[in-house]
Amino acid sequence: MISALKDQIAFFRQFRQRFETTGAIAPSSRFLARSMTRYLAARDPAVPVRVLEIGPGTGPVTDSIVRLLRPHDVFDLVELNEEFVRILHQRFETDPAWKSVKSQSTIYQLPVQEFSASLPYDFVISGLPLNNFPAELVSSIARTYFRLLKPGGVLSYFEYMYVRPIRKVVTRGAERIRITAIDATMQEHCNRCRIGRDNIWLNTPPAWVQHLRGLE
Ligand SMILES: C[S@@+](CC[C@H](N)C(=O)[O-])C[C@H]1O[C@@H](n2cnc3c(N)ncnc32)[C@H](O)[C@@H]1O
Repeated sequence: MISALKDQIAFFRQFRQRFETTGAIAPSSRFLARSMTRYLAARDPAVPVRVLEIGPGTGPVTDSIVRLLRPHDVFDLVELNEEFVRILHQRFETDPAWKSVKSQSTIYQLPVQEFSASLPYDFVISGLPLNNFPAELVSSIARTYFRLLKPGGVLSYFEYMYVRPIRKVVTRGAERIRITAIDATMQEHCNRCRIGRDNIWLNTPPAWVQHLRGLE
């Protein structure tokens, strides 16, 4: 309880200091975390998998992931913000569920668009606030998602409900061009690869979780 409150405060502080990259006022709810990990939860437990989490923040989705990992799985995390990286490292030292998977987990502190891996991942789970970014950065991040995803692997990411449809109507000029371009990029990927979408009302704010399968 106290550590959840500490995470909320740390997250809110980062929201105020780095609005563009933090992108939310509070960490995600457990309902959103459960949706983000539902394909991982359904995998064949006898086959080891590689899991990548992008933008873990204080770790609400990470907490769901660590509880689903098996001994031979590989878990990599890519987080830009050094304060969140510090909080995540501390949790891997102190929380029993996290500690049990520490040896198979690695945190990388860098922007994901600069991250490369020796092998692609079966599951890419991303909490990036794409709607806050320049349109070219969103194109580059979307390319990165599919570069890092195995053919047949699953990409799960969330976006706050109706943000783009509303901003497309209420904004003008450069902001409307930016949001329309982001919408086109993400819509194109969803049209090609989407296998599911969950509506998560119990989150601040409510969110859609998109699930896409990498083309074989
Ligand atoms: C909306 S928060 C989500 C945090 C957490 N996954 C959750 O659901 O509460 C976005 C996270 O993405 C991180 N982030 C933003 N841009 C990034 C980038 N280019 N590469 C890696 N992480 C990034 C932020 O620092 C922050 O932790």
